Amino acid sequence: MLEELSALKAAALTELTQAASPAELETIRVKTLGKKGSLTQILRGLGQMNEADRTTLGAQANAFNEEFALTLTRRMEALKQQELTQRLTREWVDVTLPGRPRSPGTLHPVTRAQNEIIHLFTAMGFPPASGPEVESDWYNFEALNIPPDHPAREMHDTFYLPPAPDGRKRLLRTHTSPVQIRVMEGKQPPLRAIAPGKVFRCDSDITHTPMFHQVEGFLVDEGVHFGQLKGLLEAFLVQFFERPLPVRFRPSFFPFTEPSAEVDMGCLFCEGQGCRICKRTGWLEVLGCGLIHPNVLAHVGIDRERYTGFAFGMGVERLAMLKYGISDMRALFDNDIRFLDRHA
Ligand code: DAH
Repeated sequence: MLEELSALKAAALTELTQAASPAELETIRVKTLGKKGSLTQILRGLGQMNEADRTTLGAQANAFNEEFALTLTRRMEALKQQELTQRLTREWVDVTLPGRPRSPGTLHPVTRAQNEIIHLFTAMGFPPASGPEVESDWYNFEALNIPPDHPAREMHDTFYLPPAPDGRKRLLRTHTSPVQIRVMEGKQPPLRAIAPGKVFRCDSDITHTPMFHQVEGFLVDEGVHFGQLKGLLEAFLVQFFERPLPVRFRPSFFPFTEPSAEVDMGCLFCEGQGCRICKRTGWLEVLGCGLIHPNVLAHVGIDRERYTGFAFGMGVERLAMLKYGISDMRALFDNDIRFLDRHA
């Protein structure tokens, strides 16, 4: 039996040292020391032995047990160390490499200009309002004093849509002026609002895109006059462009205002000397405005004898291009990341 034990010992210890994984170590342990293991089998014979042999075998078995445990622990450690070394080689990273820059994204120049316009007018007491992009002929034209055969319609390059189920003409709004009507109808002065939003015209070249943004503004009350409109728009332009600017009002025509004016400001790029951007005039046209036509007030049930009002409208892309020095309007919609980064 002593021989059996020492043979087992030799075999088991060799197996342990050759085991390639913790799982293999466990199999060897069970096979050797477990209930049905080889050592247990040998020790079963202990009962039939004489005292002296029993003492010797018992002592040898204990010694084997201890050595087995020690070898197993060492091998386990060695395997863990090996595994760690392998992982360290496998998962090695060079922390001295430069990082990959992450670009967090920024607001688009048109959004920034629009937010700034809203901010400035809100601060001057004009609450933001909105209306639908799909409009009816009434809101986009007729209520604004542009009857069906009016020549002004031609300037609008309207996108018409299939008529509504009730037969009403539908179109993509060509300006944000219809929001005036929507804010005024069913209410009585004093009224005022600004209306930012997308507008659509069938037109595309270096200064036109089929979709662009406008901000409309208006105010109706007793005794409203042109001087207030002038003061408001001058204050707006100076704040928006963050510098003192000459501003002039040039007589013009819009069906929904009377009198009407276009607003020019001194060219930002040549200080009024005349350059390519201002077409050598020294002036940049930036706004349309006027006193609301009495017909428009009448259309929304406001007393045209008692009340007067002013209205104005501006193109956000144009103001953004001037503020940020962008020369081709289409660049605003190309989504070229190099352009957007430059104007972040
Ligand atoms: N709706 C005009 C357009 O799209 C802009 C405009 C001009 C709005 C004069 C106004 C205004 O309120 O008074 O061209």
